[in-house]
Amino acid sequence: MSSWVACRASPSLALLKYWGKQEAGDNLPATPSLAVALGGLYTDTSVRLAEKDSLVVGGAPQDPGRSERFFECLRSRLEVSHRFEASSVNSFPTAAGLASSSSGFAALAAACARAAGREVPLEDLSAIARIGSVSAARSVFGGFVLLPAGAHSARQVFDASHWPDLRIVVAVTRRGSKPVSSRDAMRETSERSPFYRDWVSHSQALLPEALQALEKRDLEKLGDVVRTSYSMMHAVMLASRPPILYWLPATLAVIRACGELRARGVGAWETVDAGPQVKILCTVQDAELVTRHVRESAPGTETILCFPGDGVQPAFAAESAS
Ligand code: PMV
Repeated sequence: MSSWVACRASPSLALLKYWGKQEAGDNLPATPSLAVALGGLYTDTSVRLAEKDSLVVGGAPQDPGRSERFFECLRSRLEVSHRFEASSVNSFPTAAGLASSSSGFAALAAACARAAGREVPLEDLSAIARIGSVSAARSVFGGFVLLPAGAHSARQVFDASHWPDLRIVVAVTRRGSKPVSSRDAMRETSERSPFYRDWVSHSQALLPEALQALEKRDLEKLGDVVRTSYSMMHAVMLASRPPILYWLPATLAVIRACGELRARGVGAWETVDAGPQVKILCTVQDAELVTRHVRESAPGTETILCFPGDGVQPAFAAESAS
């Protein structure tokens, strides 16, 4: 048995959402996505060479079918025949709409490459991570990251130092995993929502606007596009037959709370992924006020304060990950 090596990655919060896969190709996104690495949250994944592939997340063995394709692709890209034993721990709730699959597959790809003794350019690591989960292609990089529609790899647009005053208040309205995985929900909406094609074409038009706002660090303009992207994505899901609704009463209470803050002149711009959690963009100066108002508006909601974070990096390996 080889010794354990470990890597750490932060989840990738989409400002513009990826939702839907291209018909041809292997796990390629139908829409462009633009994201920020959520510094403050992370997945640590330890890997060693083994007799067969296995993946444990937070102590729970994962269905091998879910990662089979990932390990095959990893071996072919790295040109190795090793099998990998992997164990991963999240510093935040798993499969709850906090993008644990993005940080999970990014950390896994990087740790497997290290365990196999391969130096892999980030672009290639991103393409490998994408096979596990499209958003993981972005989590390989830190700061602000773009994954164009149809692209195999993501790329960094700005590093984390581009916007040191930006904060993301993560409002956890409910712990526990979501009722429908994003993988299933995405497939269902692409097959059963009459708005799906419109979503794919409209999402492209949001990109130049978002990039420009990001370049200028214009929170109001960026926040406006961010709200449009997540609202369109959830509208497509609601129009699916049967409808897919991830929101809870507390989700809506937090969305409303952000509207109230904006009406008072406080920049609080929310986004919601495939789950009931809300993530709010604001400045470092407003973060405390935003946090307080969110907690008062949705009692029981936990908040975590995040900032533009780093990309995948080596971590200290546990002596034994099991
Ligand atoms: O990459 P997946 O399969 O975990 O899907 C991610 C989907 C969203 O989180 C809703 C949007 C995104 O771009 O991260």
